[in-house]
Amino acid sequence: MSEIKIYKKEDFEPMRNACQLAKRVLDYIEPYIQENTTTEKLDTLCHDFIIANNATSATLNYKGFPKSICTSVNHVVCHGIPGSYKLVKGDIINIDVTVNLNGWFGDTSRTFIVGPTTKLAENLVKVTQEALYIGINAVKPGGYFEDIGKAIQEFVDKYGYSIVKDYCGHGIGRVYHDEPIVIHYDSGEQRQRILPGMFFTIEPMINAGSHKIKILKDGWTAVTIDKSLSAQFEHTIGVIDNTVEILTA
Ligand code: MF3
Ligand code: CO
Ligand code: CO
Repeated sequence: MSEIKIYKKEDFEPMRNACQLAKRVLDYIEPYIQENTTTEKLDTLCHDFIIANNATSATLNYKGFPKSICTSVNHVVCHGIPGSYKLVKGDIINIDVTVNLNGWFGDTSRTFIVGPTTKLAENLVKVTQEALYIGINAVKPGGYFEDIGKAIQEFVDKYGYSIVKDYCGHGIGRVYHDEPIVIHYDSGEQRQRILPGMFFTIEPMINAGSHKIKILKDGWTAVTIDKSLSAQFEHTIGVIDNTVEILTA
């Protein structure tokens, strides 16, 4: 079994910088998320913003992914590829940004609403964001990774929504996707301890219907099997001494 990396105190500063840039990309793109805008336009804007800030997109060409951000609309769970699709009123769209700044990776996503939308969509987005924070609050130095999924599942079950099982959070830092995997449901089998010096993401994907997904022929786009709506929020977290820091907040 491989080990989870423990980073040094001096690693926090460059990691914070990468994570803060990823956050700023989302802040920057938010006002452009409007009806009639194509997801490709959002991609170009984010790409240029990242480059202008002396960083690169970690998703561009990652295992062949062709664009600089992921844009996942409505029943798309994750890894939507920006293209000619024009946003319409009522859409929900997750934008997932990972930057590489000086060799450090910062990864964050939010689901935005092209309003007005339905009560269901509004509530799903709200519950998903809350689920992320419930997960973050379950992070305790000396605790276990499985505490995160347990807390998220207990919370999400109350609403009758489902948690995607096919994708997880992950270790991050000098590597984009590192150990461990961070499970968002109650798996009862993640006995690794959360320790000072660890960097990882929490990124629950919550569906209004079935938790089951399928991947489209493009090899990336994950959609809900029943076409139900799906939302996601993601933060990169760092544990420094006894403090849990949301690096992308
Ligand atoms: N940013 C995604 C994550 O949260 C991964 C995207 S990989 C891509 O881990 F290739 F689809 F861009
Ligand atoms: Co991630
Ligand atoms: Co991400």
